[in-house]
Amino acid sequence: MRLTLTDFRNYQFLRINAGTEPIVITGDNGAGKTNILEAISFLTPGRGLRGARLADIKRISSAEDGSFGSSVSWAVAAKVSKGDDCYDIATAVEPVLREVGQDEDGSQRFERRIVKIDGSKISSQAELGNYISAIWLTPQMDRLFRGGSQPRRSFLDRLVYDFDAEHAKRISSFEHLYKEWYRLLKDGKHDNFWLSGLEENMASAGAAIAAARREQIARLNTFIEHEPDDVFPSVRLELDGTIEKLLDTLPAIEVEDRYREILRKMRRSVIYNDTIDGVNRTDFKVYYRKKGMPADLCSTGEQKSLLISIILAQSKCQSLYKGFAPVMLLDEVVAHLDDLKREALIGKIQELGVQAWITSTNAELFDSLRGKARFLHIEDNQLFEE
Ligand SMILES: Nc1ncnc2c1ncn2[C@@H]1O[C@H](COP(=O)(O)OP(=O)(O)O)[C@@H](O)[C@H]1O
Ligand SMILES: [Mg+2]
Repeated sequence: MRLTLTDFRNYQFLRINAGTEPIVITGDNGAGKTNILEAISFLTPGRGLRGARLADIKRISSAEDGSFGSSVSWAVAAKVSKGDDCYDIATAVEPVLREVGQDEDGSQRFERRIVKIDGSKISSQAELGNYISAIWLTPQMDRLFRGGSQPRRSFLDRLVYDFDAEHAKRISSFEHLYKEWYRLLKDGKHDNFWLSGLEENMASAGAAIAAARREQIARLNTFIEHEPDDVFPSVRLELDGTIEKLLDTLPAIEVEDRYREILRKMRRSVIYNDTIDGVNRTDFKVYYRKKGMPADLCSTGEQKSLLISIILAQSKCQSLYKGFAPVMLLDEVVAHLDDLKREALIGKIQELGVQAWITSTNAELFDSLRGKARFLHIEDNQLFEE
């Protein structure tokens, strides 16, 4: 992969010609290690590994007089190979003027993310899934099992995207419809025809979302059962969601009808601020299989190992089913692993042949990769080959 960043966070211009070997990026805190991983994560649908706002990414720089400003846009481009072919994929933001009517001049600046494949703009980010996929572990994910369900749901949905690019489209279309439906109800615009139309589309996207999640969970559980890892603990994955549960007993088409009825009944819940149910509330449950222990009750170190188990299973599964492995972005992952687990993880990355990007403040932890990986060091927004 040849990666190019332009005005992305702390990088005015950065190019890395990466081969297939793992890349270890070192540097002090704040050097810009995570930013590189984040840039790669923007080559997949969504808001990247930090869930950032597009506007926060464009490069902020200070002038000598102490003032500071920011670039107008940013871009990440990569040349990737798939089979024997090579593709240019790129993502960037463009400032756009949108007519809104409320502002003094009747317009408002906002930013839009665009995606290009071989130079042509494409309409859906989900397309990217056909060229590249990425999976990541970041320090923020240490809290994945303990907090609210939203980050777990996104984590799960990303596992689904890798197998089913349409899933990204369905999720974004559901969110869109849901927002509109919610706003109509909150604004007291009870236009039955309009609401029913939205509910119909939400039910159809929602039932497909639930089915795709179930399929992915089943695939991973079966894989883990048959090929348990020798070092990282086996997990059991479960879905906790009303719509997913309906699929246990009803055919998809009936689930869609049922979901439509549920949404219709929930109109009142929106108005009275009651709990709202559906695929946008589904939780993703992970268990330490051997102990039968829910992940949130496991120790911090165990939780990290469970996450590693999931991403290893996902990448193995993906290589098996799709013929290509995801790019693996491991942000400060090894710092909290004991020597045995760290070396096991390094070994597995090599075995899997995935393109791994690994960050660490301490290069020594990767001594066993000397000669087998690229070592890059960041200082003053520049990369140095070690
Ligand atoms: N939009 C931006 N423009 C310029 N610099 C940024 C921007 N956003 C974050 N940074 C800088 O990036 C640095 C953090 O980079 P990061 O990749 O998280 O570091 P680390 O090497 O610790 O992982 C911070 O020092 C911050 O000042
Ligand atoms: Mg970092």
